[in-house]
Amino acid sequence: LAPGAVLLHGFAQAEAAALLQAMEQLIAQAPLRHMQTPGGYTMSVATTSCGPLGWVSDPHGYRYAAHDPHTGQPWPAMPDCLLRFAIYAATEAGYPDFVPDSCMVNQYLPGNKLGLHQDRDERDLRAPVVSLSLGLPATFLFGGLQRTGPTQRYRLAHGDVVVWGGPSRLAFHGVLPVADGDHALVGRRRVNLTFRKVG
Ligand code: SIN
Ligand code: FE2
Repeated sequence: LAPGAVLLHGFAQAEAAALLQAMEQLIAQAPLRHMQTPGGYTMSVATTSCGPLGWVSDPHGYRYAAHDPHTGQPWPAMPDCLLRFAIYAATEAGYPDFVPDSCMVNQYLPGNKLGLHQDRDERDLRAPVVSLSLGLPATFLFGGLQRTGPTQRYRLAHGDVVVWGGPSRLAFHGVLPVADGDHALVGRRRVNLTFRKVG
């Protein structure tokens, strides 16, 4: 996509059912919820996390936390198949030392979108971001280091993986509204799993 950023088409195709099953077990323990943004909005995308640190947003700001504010419990452990998958994808993309300590789940229903943003709440910006798409396809926007710069559009389908790091680590990115549809395995939604090394 850009220096340090790659799209691995269909990379998770063979493992998708197992990865989905792990994700379903996870959301049974730490339910998907709509976070509040510091600006006072409610996110249309529903989120949860697993691993030592989970992404949290509320009126005070964005941060990573060791506990799920919804349950008061530590986030569920990162399932082994998800951890191994993220390491495998990062290695394939040229980041062989990646060990994530956070996996965020984003569920998009038809019409849901994610505005252009940078992933910059992580302390360790040397590590890449590994993003796995499952279910309905979406249009991914990938730009440069300035919000107002040009963006490229890529179609992300079930099983596609995007990895961005190095000179692209702080690239602006977002997701256009997901079109309605019904995916044979995942149903009427898109699920994105994003792996990061936060600490
Ligand atoms: C994200 O930017 O955190 C998620 C991107 C995606 O859903 O593909
Ligand atoms: Fe992001």
